[in-house]
Amino acid sequence: MSTTVRAAAKINLHLGVGAPREDGFHPLDTVYQAISLYDDVTVAEAEEDSLSVAGSAYIDVRDVPGDASNIAVRALAEAACRSPHHVRITKQIPVAGGMAGGSADAAAALLAHDRLHGLSQPDEVLLAQAARLGSDVPFSLVGGTARGRGRGEVVEPVADRGPWWWVVVPARTGLSTPDVYRHFDRLHPDAPAQPAEPTGLLAALASREPVRLARTLHNDLQEPAIDLRPELGALIQRGEAEGALRGMVSGSGPTCVFLCDSQEGAMAVMAALSASYDVVLPAIGPVAGAHVVEVL
Ligand code: C5P
Repeated sequence: MSTTVRAAAKINLHLGVGAPREDGFHPLDTVYQAISLYDDVTVAEAEEDSLSVAGSAYIDVRDVPGDASNIAVRALAEAACRSPHHVRITKQIPVAGGMAGGSADAAAALLAHDRLHGLSQPDEVLLAQAARLGSDVPFSLVGGTARGRGRGEVVEPVADRGPWWWVVVPARTGLSTPDVYRHFDRLHPDAPAQPAEPTGLLAALASREPVRLARTLHNDLQEPAIDLRPELGALIQRGEAEGALRGMVSGSGPTCVFLCDSQEGAMAVMAALSASYDVVLPAIGPVAGAHVVEVL
């Protein structure tokens, strides 16, 4: 028997970062949105534990851990799973791209394991397991659009009258999230304890006006990500020159996302950027959190 769960990529419409806490994590005030790039995770009963990873043409599966350190495998351990399983991951979400691809795999594995064995654990139990696996994993379960506080793991849905159209440009090589946070600390040794709030953004999300949303997008990790990868600044400028309402780094990067005014607008920006960038993908948001797509 096997269960397959699909989980979406995230972007951060707002990412306010405060000074590091005593545990080394940064306090966040963020607004996540799940967008339509997905990883599928199948958890199947098996004779012994094994893992296989496949992906879209632009994914280098060699960048994904192929052993027990893979976060989807760690998710099964977190779920106190005792019997052996085969885990199959099919990736569409860029690896180390600032889009919570690993978190999506962890969330999908948690849910697939729960459903495969008919456990039907309460949401609070799955969310607590998710939070222990990583800051973005609870949001990957929930999906839609949600505010994240704490280190990102305390999530609360917010009103969003999208859909919004995005163009996504992944980078060839990923960025390490801890490196980007460390660089934020170097650039902002006097960061306030309280991260910036997404006040204008929440009103814009409820308005259905892309121009208003574009004005209120904010990412405190954009500056350190661009400082580490200056070419991202050029990409953002290019996308905006080609007609995107606003370009930004997704989370800790290096993927960049461009908010467009409509589906037609997104297609035009895609066509223009495709002349210079190998991989340019369309996406809408918000979309659902982790959900079962196949039971065999
Ligand atoms: O929680 P997660 O495992 O996704 O975090 C990866 C790394 O990103 C952490 O080890 C930490 O260096 C950094 N991080 C942080 N503050 C957060 C979330 C992540 O410093 N709120």
